This record gives sequence, structure tokens and C-alpha cells, in this order.
Amino acid sequence: MRYNWYLKVVKLGGSVITLKDMPMTIRYDVVKQLVSELADAVKGLPDLKLVIIHGGGGFGHYVVRKCLSSSGRIDSMCFSETSYAMTLLNTSLLKELLGVGLPVVSIPPHTVFKAEVDGRVSYDKNLIIEYLVRGLIPVLYGDVVLGVDSFLVLSGDTIAWLLAKDLNAHEIIFVTDVDGLFDKDPKKYSDARLLKYVRADELVNLEFSQSEYDVTGSMMFKLMEGLKHGVKGINVRVVNGLVKGNLYKSLHGNSSIGTVIKY
Ligand code: IPE
Repeated sequence: MRYNWYLKVVKLGGSVITLKDMPMTIRYDVVKQLVSELADAVKGLPDLKLVIIHGGGGFGHYVVRKCLSSSGRIDSMCFSETSYAMTLLNTSLLKELLGVGLPVVSIPPHTVFKAEVDGRVSYDKNLIIEYLVRGLIPVLYGDVVLGVDSFLVLSGDTIAWLLAKDLNAHEIIFVTDVDGLFDKDPKKYSDARLLKYVRADELVNLEFSQSEYDVTGSMMFKLMEGLKHGVKGINVRVVNGLVKGNLYKSLHGNSSIGTVIKY
């Protein structure tokens, strides 16, 4: 069944809401700004349905990196510690979202998502649909999940793509710490130009900076994943969440913010 609603999926990147170089530290100034923009946008857009997803940053990535460097894999203790760290981050974020009057509900991904033998990720989308229908805002996050005979990291980006496709979303907004996509790597070239509009099939021609920190990959991976999941007919926006007003304007469809990628 296709849902005929006006749904946006907002992914708050871990590098925006946490400090990556100081483990287990939330950037409360940024978080408070972003949640107030979300609340303002929701107030002004009564038809908007929202799913919020957040990343792991200095919580999940930090813990996973630590266990990968000591035991080389995610063992049961690592799974437990990672899911705990992510729960802490999620609870703190939820408190802020509730504080601005948003009817949020946390859906811990390790309780609903699972990787199958063929590598696909399965979950009960009806649960999320029902929360949306009942007027709640589901909040999910990058987490550790069960694989067939291992434990895996399921990135918040992957969850964003799956939900956008399965729940017929209009748009995914990736809230990052960069202004959008550039015609060349802005970390290497000072004359790099911000792109306003890109077709998904043009992504392969762009040069992306590599992230050394994330255990779940770079911007390139984030965006190419949409093609892998066969997502079609939606807009994806990459915006800088550190710039005040960007998230609010993006939710209002202001085309001057960030880069829009058409899938
Ligand atoms: C990572 O989620 C979650 C864990 C490492 C457990 P994401 O991949 O979505 O996190 P960010 O946004 O890159 O920090």
C-alpha cells in the first residue's frame, strides 16, 4: 500500500549532534537549535509527517571503533556497550525533542531491524506506519543489530533510505556539518563550487572527501546507497545543520539551502 501523506525523513548526522573528538559528548547548543527548528517547522506545517533518525558520532562510532581495534569484531560485549551508548544519546535527544513539545517515540533499531542471510535488512514497517498514523514522530538511530551469525552496525543513513522507500517519503534531509555537495573536494580546492541541484546518476562523477572516523562510510556511500536500494522519485537534501535556520528552511522546501539530489 502506498501512503499518500507528506512525509519527510530527517537524519541528524552524528558529527552535528555530538563531538567526534571528545567521546560521549553531546553538542547541546546545536541540538537545542535543531530541535527548536524542528518544532517551529512542525507547527507551521500541519500536514507534515516526520521521522527523525540520528547518527552515532562520538557515541556509537567511538565504541565500535574501540572494540574493532581491540578484538577486530563486534562481539557480544561490544554489541551491548554500543547499544547502551546509543540508548544514552537517544534518550538525551528525546528529552530535548519532548521539551519543545514534539510527540516523539523512540524505536530502538536493535529491537526491530535484523540482517537476513541474503544481506537484506528486515523490519516491521507497519509498526512505524501505525505510530505515524496515530500522530507520533518515530525517532530511530544508527545502531547495532543482529546479523545471521554476527553482529552488525546498521547506519542511520541506511535506515533513512529504507524508511523513505517503504513509507513513501517525499524527501530525506541529511543534516550534516558541510554545506552540501561540491563540484570538487572543498577540503583540497579553495575554488570548489557548491552544487544546488544534482541528479542521482551524476553522483559518480563527483569527488568526495573521505571520512576516516566513521565505521559506516562517507558522504559518497551515504548517497550511493539510495541507488542501491532502488529509491526513485524522491528528493534528498544535504544541508549544513550548524548554520542556524537551515533545517527550518529545508523543511519548508526553501531551495536555496544545501544541495538537492533528485533520485
Ligand atoms: C552509526 O550510525 C551508529 C553506530 C556506530 C552504532 P550512523 O552511521 O548513522 O552515524 P553518523 O551519522 O555517521 O555519526
